[in-house]
Amino acid sequence: MTNQQTDSASVRDIPGNREIIRVGHGILPELGSELRALGIRGRAHVVSDDRVAALHGEKILRSLADVGFEPDLIAVPPREESKSLDQAARLYSWLADRRAERADVVVGLGGGLVGDLAGFVAATYLRGLALVHVPTTLLAQIDSSIGGKTGVNLPRGKNLVGAFYPSLLSFMDVQLLSTLSPREISSGWAEGIKYGFILDPDLIDVLERDADELIRLEPFHSTPIIERCANHKVQIVAEDPRERGRRIILNFGHTIAHAIESATSYQRFLHGEAVAIGMIGAARIAERIGVGKSGVLDRLVNLVQRYGLPTSAPGIAPAHILDGISLDKKVEGRSVRWVLVEEPGQTRVERDVPLTVVNEVISDLVRSVDI
Ligand SMILES: NC(=O)c1ccc[n+]([C@@H]2O[C@H](COP(=O)([O-])OP(=O)(O)OC[C@H]3O[C@@H](n4cnc5c(N)ncnc54)[C@H](O)[C@@H]3O)[C@@H](O)[C@H]2O)c1
Ligand SMILES: [Zn+2]
Repeated sequence: MTNQQTDSASVRDIPGNREIIRVGHGILPELGSELRALGIRGRAHVVSDDRVAALHGEKILRSLADVGFEPDLIAVPPREESKSLDQAARLYSWLADRRAERADVVVGLGGGLVGDLAGFVAATYLRGLALVHVPTTLLAQIDSSIGGKTGVNLPRGKNLVGAFYPSLLSFMDVQLLSTLSPREISSGWAEGIKYGFILDPDLIDVLERDADELIRLEPFHSTPIIERCANHKVQIVAEDPRERGRRIILNFGHTIAHAIESATSYQRFLHGEAVAIGMIGAARIAERIGVGKSGVLDRLVNLVQRYGLPTSAPGIAPAHILDGISLDKKVEGRSVRWVLVEEPGQTRVERDVPLTVVNEVISDLVRSVDI
C-alpha cells in the first residue's frame, strides 16, 4: 500500500519531519528488503514478548535473515511489568553480548509494551541505534508505534522514564492482527473513533457504516482505515513532535481514561476501553458547558457501543478518578486542560471547566451500568 518515503537519515534530525509508515496486508516477508532499501547496513536485533514471538517470531527472523541481517530475537514476558528498567538492563546485556554496533537496527515486534521498551533501549544503547517498529496490536498500529514516545515504568508510576525517539519506520502488517482477541481489536478501534471525532468526520461515517467488517479486520476494509488512522497520528506528531501544542488533541478522552486506569490498577480495562469511557465523559462535559453541539454525545455513545466498548465504569469511587485527573501529566500549572469536541472534527481545549460539572460527570460514569 502507500509508502510515505522520506530521507531516512534525516527523519530523526529535522523537527517536524514525518515518520515513515508502511501499511499493508501480508507484507511481513518484505520487511528485510524494506530495511535494506532504507539504507540500514548492519545487523538486526529483534525485541518481542513471549506470546508474539511464538506467533510471529519465525516469520520476521526469516525475512531479515534472507537479506543478511543476521537477526536474533529476545522476548520479555507479555505483561506490563516487563516495561521496566530491569528488562531494559537485560536487553542492554543481550545487545552487548551480540556486539551490537551503531549501524545496527533494533526491531520492536509487538504491541505498545514492546514498542515502548524496545524504543527506550534503542534510544539509549550506544546513545541511539536505529529503531523500527513492527506493531502487532491494532492500538500499536494506529497509535503507539507512531510519535516517538518510548519509555519504561517505575514502581512509582507508568512511563516515568523515557525519551522521545521516533522510529525510522513503522512497518504495519495488518495480517499480524488476525491472532488478536476480539476484545483487543475493539480496544484498538477506540483510538480510531477518537481520530474521527477530533479530526475526521468522514471517518466517523466509515466506522459506522463498515463496523462489522472493521471489527472482523476484514483486509479490504480494515487496511486502508488503519492506514488513514496512522496517517492522522503521523500528521499531528509532525506538527508538534514534542507535545507542546496541537498534539494535545490526541488526548481526547485520555484525561479521564488515565484516571480510570490508575484507579483500577490497570487491571480492569484495556487502554482503549478506558479511552471509550473517557471520551464519553469529555463529551458529556462539553454538552453540559455548552461547548458540544447537540448530537455529538449520542453519536459517540452509539459508536462506542457498536464496537463493543464500555460506556461506563460502575463501582469506582469518584474520588479515585478525581485524584487521578489532577495527577495526569497533561495538567499544566494546576488547571486541567480538557480536550473537548465542539462538533465532529472540531476541538477546543478548555481550562476552566467548573469542578461541579466534572464531579457530576464522573459520578454519572461510575453510577450507570450502561447508557
Ligand atoms: N508510546 C505511545 O505513544 C503509547 C501510546 C499508547 C499506549 N502505549 C503503551 O502501550 C502499552 C499497551 O500496548 P498494547 O495495548 O498494544 O498492549 P500490549 O503490547 O501489552 O499487548 C497486549 C497483549 O496482546 C498480546 N499480543 C500482541 N500482539 C498480538 C498478536 N498479534 N496476536 C496475539 N496476541 C498479541 C501481547 O502479548 C499482550 O499479551 C502500554 O504499556 C501503554 O503505556 C504507548
Ligand atoms: Zn490512547
